[in-house]
Amino acid sequence: MNDRFLKACRKQPVDRTPIWIMRQAGRYLPEYRAVRKKVDFVTLCRTPELACEVTLQPIDRLGVDAAILFSDILVPAESMGFEIAFNPGPVLDHAVRSAADVEAVRTPEGPEVAPYVYDAVRMIRRELDGRVPLIGFAAAPWTLAVYLVEGKGSKNFDQVKKLMFGDPASAHRLLEKITRVTVGYLREQVRAGAQALQLFDSWAGILGPREYREFALPYARTVLREIADLDVPRIYFALNNAHLLDAIGECEADVLGMDWRVPLDEANRRLGGRFALQGNLDPTTLMADPAFIRERAREVVEAGRRAPGHVFNLGHGILPDTPPEHALALVEAVHGAVREEA
Ligand code: CP3
Repeated sequence: MNDRFLKACRKQPVDRTPIWIMRQAGRYLPEYRAVRKKVDFVTLCRTPELACEVTLQPIDRLGVDAAILFSDILVPAESMGFEIAFNPGPVLDHAVRSAADVEAVRTPEGPEVAPYVYDAVRMIRRELDGRVPLIGFAAAPWTLAVYLVEGKGSKNFDQVKKLMFGDPASAHRLLEKITRVTVGYLREQVRAGAQALQLFDSWAGILGPREYREFALPYARTVLREIADLDVPRIYFALNNAHLLDAIGECEADVLGMDWRVPLDEANRRLGGRFALQGNLDPTTLMADPAFIRERAREVVEAGRRAPGHVFNLGHGILPDTPPEHALALVEAVHGAVREEA
């Protein structure tokens, strides 16, 4: 088994820097688009055979060091009483705007959250047959709360901030409910076979440090703490976090995901060298030619060597227009960069 991803997460020595790519199964791959021609995105997420098929596509094509379950952070919201569509971003059938709306949000036990996801995890583990580890994931409570309150993506996040500032008790009650569901959901993914977990806090960066500390950090910390006994690496990825690093350093993740706005050596310094880091090449770099990609990849590998562990990734999801050969060039560059120096 290729375990350099798990080793880097655990701050153990590795032969080469491991790499996986956020959204590595996605529209930039023709084989993914071929599957999407036949079924819509929600059906794809709900059909274990198809979710398994697309999860494996980048493993076969790119040689990345980890697989990530194909699903979406909005999937658990269905079991909490929401109907979800994608167009192409998530759209919910209703939004949470009042104390009564918060009360109506359901909190199913782990096994009831998304049984088809656990089936997909079991199937993917069987198909991977030990080639690389499988990462499970969920949204951090704050980020899922943003979607439940806004009802879709947003520019100004005025609805969720209105609830947060105008009725903080209801905002906290919603976050508590999401936290409970998320813990059960992640524990079930590990029971089904997930070997690492990533918590996506994609909307952390819309908060200033004070609100981040009140509405996002405590709930992410609770989730991370309540899965600690499962003994799988826990990755916390808060996007746009340059102004939040001091606070983020207080959570007990094994790995912190970084975007490209803070170089990894600087992040490591600011975090006191206590975390393995994941990241952080700007996804748009992959639009440039392979020589440029290789140069920038080597810089990220070099900066990452300062941290006690480094998992190479992009700083956010791979863009749909990325040429697949450029993603392959990146993987080869990252694997080659460390070999040269070993
Ligand atoms: O990384 C992977 O390969 C695993 C699959 C995965 C998807 N979404 C598939 C997807 C993961 C881990 C996610 C997480 C996710 N979903 C996040 C957190 C990461 C981030 O980007 O910050 C967020 C915010 C979402 C919500 C979401 N889902 C949005 C905003 C969109 C539309 C934007 C887009 O890229 O189209 C989606 C749809 C989505 N999720 C697609 C994929 C492959 C595109 C669907 C399609 O048309 O095929």
